[in-house]
Amino acid sequence: MELPFAESWKIKMIEPLKKSTREQREQWLKEAHNNVFMLKAEQVYIDCLTDSGTGAMSDRQWSAMMLGDESYAGATSFYKFQEVVQRLFGFKYVIPTHQGRAAENVLFSYLVKEGNVVPGNAHFDTTKGHIESRHAKAIDVTIDEAKDTQLEIPFKGNVSLEKLEKVLVENKGNVPFMVLTVTNNTVGGQPVSMKNIKETCELCHKYGVPVVMDSARFAENSYFIKTREEGYADKTIKEIAREMYSYVDAMTMSAKKDGLVNMGGFIATNREEWYEGAKLFCIPFEGFLTYGGLNGRDLNALAVGLDENTEFEMLETRIHQVQYLASKLDEYGIPYQRPVGGHALFIDADKVLCNVPKEEFPAQTLTCELYLEAGIRGCEIGYILADRDPVTRENRFGGLDLLRLCIARRVYTDNHMNVIAAALKNVYDRRNEITRGVAIEWEAPLMRHFTVKLRRLGK
Ligand code: F0G
Repeated sequence: MELPFAESWKIKMIEPLKKSTREQREQWLKEAHNNVFMLKAEQVYIDCLTDSGTGAMSDRQWSAMMLGDESYAGATSFYKFQEVVQRLFGFKYVIPTHQGRAAENVLFSYLVKEGNVVPGNAHFDTTKGHIESRHAKAIDVTIDEAKDTQLEIPFKGNVSLEKLEKVLVENKGNVPFMVLTVTNNTVGGQPVSMKNIKETCELCHKYGVPVVMDSARFAENSYFIKTREEGYADKTIKEIAREMYSYVDAMTMSAKKDGLVNMGGFIATNREEWYEGAKLFCIPFEGFLTYGGLNGRDLNALAVGLDENTEFEMLETRIHQVQYLASKLDEYGIPYQRPVGGHALFIDADKVLCNVPKEEFPAQTLTCELYLEAGIRGCEIGYILADRDPVTRENRFGGLDLLRLCIARRVYTDNHMNVIAAALKNVYDRRNEITRGVAIEWEAPLMRHFTVKLRRLGK
């Protein structure tokens, strides 16, 4: 008999979980204004809000923390971290920051000017926020196929070279850089192929436009290249990552995902003038150049995390679990962005809550229903997250309306996946009875989904 698949690690420390009653959850969700970001974590049974900073560190990472050097300047921790970044990505200049958006803030403060245009394959919301708040424009150039959730193609996060070229031609001299996000979180954690990375960079460079790789899930992207793209099956994850970065000009990184740490980020580049420019903003925003908002122990844990998570077995275990959950949803016929991506399942709320009009935010409604059903916290990646158009102030209904269920790295077991799937099935089975959604009572002008207050309609 062939031996079944199993995790490439074992568990040394556990954290108890609390269950609750439906009555309690009704009360808590009301108090949270139907916004799951406002729930207390202890009111949640299985937390799929994000895979960001929620992973479990290894014994090696914890032991590296004890060796953290907390010197203000020139700590050994910085040099250990810098060595790993230089080795993995091939960039000479490295600036640590406290998280990914801080890396964006520091680098974009130098690069983005009012009126600029910054194309990208579905900018993450903080990335878009950092562009739009500087009165510049973020234009999505993801392939159209990404919008068809039922279409199965291996690299659904790809850039449309046609769309990109159009932006580059129409905005000549006004594009400071392009953002290439791997994996493409917004369209479902979908990977970008090496071929597409290379061609995107060649096209940008032809127009004199540099490319910044938004790298939060670069290791998962490398795994998909290895397992799906011709010519990469025999390459190591580290070799693949190194090739990906050989094409781009710089990276911003949220280390809270594929860095396997709870907090951290960085910028890396070979462009000396960008390094010099970004340095000026790092010091006032993040702190001195050898700590950038991080403790020495954090930098040590990150150095180990980056090394660990660029090993095949670690990624295979992770993606296997995400794919296991997807296989349960297949069994129940629940529609999600196919094929499943690297870090999460993205349930196609439009296809589940068909009776809820888009103006009443189906994905947000589904998020609430899943929480009420079993205390599972997902996150809307849809019309609320899309914010309003900065010029017309209209809601942006043009994209997908998804409920994202993120899987934290090395945290839950496949039994938890079974619970998530069963809870979703229960909601799915009564989907036709759900006819009303939510209405916005209060919203922030930018990145509203974190703090929005919503009223449940028809209840
Ligand atoms: N880029 C991408 C692709 C991201 O997914 C995120 C964060 C960031 C940048 C910003 O990094 O959180 O460290 O400041 N994504 C999280 C998520 C929050 O839930 O998808 P950060």
